[in-house]
Amino acid sequence: MSSRPTGSALMEKLVSLCKRRSFIFPSSEIYGGLNGFWDYGPMGTQLKNNLRDRWWRDMVECPPIGPDGKPLSILGLDSSIIQNPKTWIASGHVGGFSDPMVDCRASKSRYRLDHVMVYRPREGADEHPSYAFVEGAPQAIAKKLKKATRGREVSELFEIVALEDLNVADYAMIVGPDTKEKGTLTEPKQFNLMFQTTVGATGGPENVAYLRPETAQGIFLNYKNVLDTSRVKVPFGIAQIGKAFRNEVTPRNYIFRSREFEQMEMEWFCHPNDAEKWFKFWVDYRMKWWQTVGVKAENLILREHSQDELAHYAKNGAGTFDIEYRYPFSGGDGFGELEGIAHRSDFDLTQHQEHSRTKLSYFQDDTRERYLPHVIEPASGLTRGVLVLLCEAYDVDESRPSPELMRFHPQMAPIKAAVFPLVNKDGMPEVAEKLYMDLRHRHVTQFDVKQSIGKRYARMDEAGTPWCFTIDQDTMSEGTVTARDRDTGVQQRIALDAVPRFLDDKING
Ligand code: GAP
Repeated sequence: MSSRPTGSALMEKLVSLCKRRSFIFPSSEIYGGLNGFWDYGPMGTQLKNNLRDRWWRDMVECPPIGPDGKPLSILGLDSSIIQNPKTWIASGHVGGFSDPMVDCRASKSRYRLDHVMVYRPREGADEHPSYAFVEGAPQAIAKKLKKATRGREVSELFEIVALEDLNVADYAMIVGPDTKEKGTLTEPKQFNLMFQTTVGATGGPENVAYLRPETAQGIFLNYKNVLDTSRVKVPFGIAQIGKAFRNEVTPRNYIFRSREFEQMEMEWFCHPNDAEKWFKFWVDYRMKWWQTVGVKAENLILREHSQDELAHYAKNGAGTFDIEYRYPFSGGDGFGELEGIAHRSDFDLTQHQEHSRTKLSYFQDDTRERYLPHVIEPASGLTRGVLVLLCEAYDVDESRPSPELMRFHPQMAPIKAAVFPLVNKDGMPEVAEKLYMDLRHRHVTQFDVKQSIGKRYARMDEAGTPWCFTIDQDTMSEGTVTARDRDTGVQQRIALDAVPRFLDDKING
């Protein structure tokens, strides 16, 4: 029976397991870490690579079948992180890629305006100040409200409003998220999210460059190169996986919003008249894809962007849909973004054509038509996807001596199998090692002789290893092993020489 906690209790347990079992560490931890940066340990790297490789296989190496029954054409790319800074002027990131934020004069903290919520006193309760808090960080505000309400129901005295819906004049009555005094929040200012660096030894303002805030622009810059050097015709896609950097005002919720992260993006170039059709196709395909890596349908929703939240590049298109996941920190039924699918129209190609003075139009032979293709973009976060797989997999089974386990989809699991000799004698280690030497060529396998068998199973449950094979006395006498299923804990006996096939079937389905 699962007794999995929910909300922030689940996040606390998950973060602790991820550290203990080497999924994720705070970056540069021995120096106190750096807010918004994370390192992936041996287990986390393997998990991230499994998700990355699966995306690449399903998008580039073996892309989906299109509406005409033929496989789509999608080509891979790996562009540089630092590009000519004109890229970011053309893309609109220099002028527009900013968040309004408020500072706190007392605590020196900086918050994204749209992340700050306020408990405002209801009419008649206005002897109280208003209390601001950062959405999704409930502990700090609970303490303050407990003092303010003195045992009365919070909802009786306060209503929740977004800071962005209040007038700056109201700020005088607000206690900031990290202070005890009123009136310390400044009025909102724009803050550009791109990290700057300088290229070359001289380092003057003319050498300023940016770390890319999205992988997408590298694709637009290479669209013509790919078109001219490959035998593709519109419609086709270019896909890229790589690091992106954003100087987020409020990095938070573990690896959900970090300052260095990885994206998996594909730009699908198509005829403007077909853009709506392809938009629907990609929304549908991507929603199903997340379920094939083990995300439950009930934890995913599609949400259409309202007109005023559309990104600058999506304003002229048919819109944007977000695939959202039910993260534990987004409240009971709250969902947060996992992937965005945007109709970017010809925004980016038009901009780059104008700014670079390079012709980027496409000539369609059969219709003798010349046009700038429209673009549909499924853009997901690889590291955010890792968080979703971790949240989805975490479970607690109190009937086990060591109750925590990770129920990863077998293809996502960092380790696919473990081989144990029951005891470290009587010829068992030798037989176990021989099996391990065979399995390691097929799947990531671990061989472990240390500690009791129960502890070894528990270690593998925490790492999310779907199958453990134990060599015992019966292996020596009759050539069978126990195969233990992570999800049920049930053990079955199978022939020693059937193990490789058994594991192939379980992992590859
Ligand atoms: N090229 C379009 C684009 O970059 P986006 O919605 O800003 O769109 C795409 O980013 C995806 O990248 C998001 O759905 C999310 O999964 C991931 N992402 C964005 N910012 C992130 C951050 N600060 N930390 C982790 N992942 C992030």
